Amino acid sequence: STMGTALIYDEEMTKYKLLWVDPACKIEVPERLSVSYQALVRTGLSDRCVAVPPREASDAEILLVHSEEYLEGVKKTPHMTLEDLKEFTLQYGDVYFHPNIYHCAKLAAGSALQLVDSVMTGTVRNGMALVRPPGHHSMRSAASGFCVFNNVAIAARYAKQKHGAKRVLIVDWDIHHGQGVQYCFEDDPSVLYFSWHRYEHQKFWPNLRESDYDSVGKGSGAGFNINVPWNKVCSSINLNDYLSAFCHVLLPVAYEFCPDLVLVCAGFDSAVGDPEGEMCATPDIFAHLTHLLMNLAGGKLCAVLEGGYNLTSLAQSVCQTVQTLLGDPLPRLANLGSPCERSGQTQTERCRKSRNVFLLPGNYALLRPYLSHEMKTSVEFAATGNSDLSPTALFTKALQKRLSAGIPILLRKKISVLRKMLVVQISGEDKEEQKCKYYIPMCLKKGCGDTVGFIQAVLGLLLPLGYEYDPGLVLLSRMPGSGVGDCTWQQLIGLLKGFAKGHTLVLMQTNDGACMGPTASVLLGHPAPPLQELLTRLPDDGDALERMRERLQADWKMLETLFFLHGMLGG
Ligand SMILES: *[C@@H]1O[C@H](CO)[C@@H](O)[C@H](O)[C@H]1NC(C)=O
Ligand SMILES: [Zn+2]
Repeated sequence: STMGTALIYDEEMTKYKLLWVDPACKIEVPERLSVSYQALVRTGLSDRCVAVPPREASDAEILLVHSEEYLEGVKKTPHMTLEDLKEFTLQYGDVYFHPNIYHCAKLAAGSALQLVDSVMTGTVRNGMALVRPPGHHSMRSAASGFCVFNNVAIAARYAKQKHGAKRVLIVDWDIHHGQGVQYCFEDDPSVLYFSWHRYEHQKFWPNLRESDYDSVGKGSGAGFNINVPWNKVCSSINLNDYLSAFCHVLLPVAYEFCPDLVLVCAGFDSAVGDPEGEMCATPDIFAHLTHLLMNLAGGKLCAVLEGGYNLTSLAQSVCQTVQTLLGDPLPRLANLGSPCERSGQTQTERCRKSRNVFLLPGNYALLRPYLSHEMKTSVEFAATGNSDLSPTALFTKALQKRLSAGIPILLRKKISVLRKMLVVQISGEDKEEQKCKYYIPMCLKKGCGDTVGFIQAVLGLLLPLGYEYDPGLVLLSRMPGSGVGDCTWQQLIGLLKGFAKGHTLVLMQTNDGACMGPTASVLLGHPAPPLQELLTRLPDDGDALERMRERLQADWKMLETLFFLHGMLGG
C-alpha cells in the first residue's frame, strides 16, 4: 500500500569511530545512531514502520556525484595503517577516517537510495534513513564535516536517473550549510536546494562566502538555490524564525516548484541543547517542519539523517519526525512568542540591527507579494467562498444545519474548549471591512478559483496566523459557488491539520457531492495531490495580500518579523 513509512537502520553503521584525539570531531559518535534507533524502538514507532534493509551504493551510483579519483582514494582507507589514515584525513577539513568508514559510507548512501526506491515505487509513502556517516558537506572530490559521500545529493541524481523524477526539492534543516549539496546542483534547475544555517557573517563553520543569502544558483540554476543564513545571536533564533522561514520563503517557492520528490537533509543540530547549533528550538518543531512538507510531491518525502550531537534532543527530534511521517497528530507548539519581544526592549533594538537576511529569488511568482517589503509570519476557522453572513451567523448556522444527531455532543465538548475564535474568510468579494483582530476577511480579486492567489493566502497569511493563534479546533467551511478547486481545497485541509492536534472539522455547505471524496481522502490522512497548475500559471497580482499582511502586522506578530528582501536576482 502507499500508506506506510519506511525506516532504514543497520547497526553496522555504528561500527566506526574516531581513533585519535581531535576536539573538532569528538562529537560525531556511534551512539548518535544507536540512541536514535533505541528511542524509536522504545516509543513503539519502529514497529509501526516498514523496515527496509540498507544496501551498499555501487561505484556507478557514488560517481553520480563524486570523482573517480576521490572514490579511488576512499577505497584505499580500509587497508591503511593508523598513521596512513591520519595522513589521508589531513587533506580534508573536520572529518576523520577509520578502516570501516568506507563500508559505512557505502551503506549510508545506499540507504538513501533504498529509501528513494521504496518511496518512488509506491511501496511506502515516505520514510527516514538513520545513517552514519552523514553526507551534506561532502564534495565532488573531498570529504568534509564528518561526511564522506553526499548521500542526499546522490539520492537526488538517482531519483532523476532511475525513476524519472523531473524536479527534486532538497530541504536542509541541519544547522550547518550543506555546501556539498549546493555545489552539486548550483547550475541545475531540476534540483531546488533550500538550506538555513548558522552563519554569523561567515564566522560559523564552514565559513564560506557562498553560504550567504546571495548565492542563488548559477546559469539556468539561478533561483534554485536558497540560503537562509542566521546572523543573529543563536539563542534568539526561535520556533518562530523556523516557521517564518518555512511559511514565507520555502513553502511558496516549493509549491511553485512542484517537486516530484522531497528529500530532507535531516540534521538535528538545529534543536535545543546541541553543542554545535546552540539553538533553542524544541524537538517538537521537527514534527511541524515535516508536516509542512508532507503535502508536496503527493507526500513523497525521504528524510536522511545528517547532524545532531546532543543525544537527548537528537533522539527526541528523530521520534518527532518519524511520528509525523506516520501521520500522527502534531503536538501544539507552546510559547511561540517572538524572541525579540520576550527579551524586552533592549533586545528588540539589538535584533533589529542584526536581522537575518532572507533572499527571495525574484523568478518565483509566488513570492512576488513579498518582494517589495520585509516580513514575518497563523486559524481557528477558515471559511472559504462568498458569503453574506456575518462570521458568527455563519458559524451558528453551519452548526445548526450540518450537525446531525450524535455529532453535536462531541462537538459541544470541543467547543467548550474554545475561549474565542479566529475567523478567516477567503472570498472573491471585498464586502466586509475587518472589524476586529479575530475576524479577517481576505479578498482574492479573481476569487477562490485562483490557485496562485489562494495558495499565497494560505501559506503567507493563514498558516502564520494559525501558528500564532494556536487554535484548539480547526473548522473549515466550503460555501456554495466558492470556486475553490478540489486540489487546492485538499491542500488547505492538509496544511491546517497541523493545528489543534489535528482536530479538524469540515463543513461542506455545498451540494456538490463530487468534492466529498477528495475531502474525505485528505481527512483520512492521504496526502493532497500536487498543484500542477502552479507550474504554468502566470503570477497573480499579490499587492492586495501584501497590503493585508501589512495591516495585520499590528495585531499578529507572526506577520511582522523583518526580512530584508533582495529580490529579482533570479533568472
Ligand atoms: C542536551 O540538551 C538538553 C536540552 O534538550 C540539555 O538539558 C542537556 O544538558 C544537553 N546535553 C548535553 C550533553 O549537552
Ligand atoms: Zn550539522
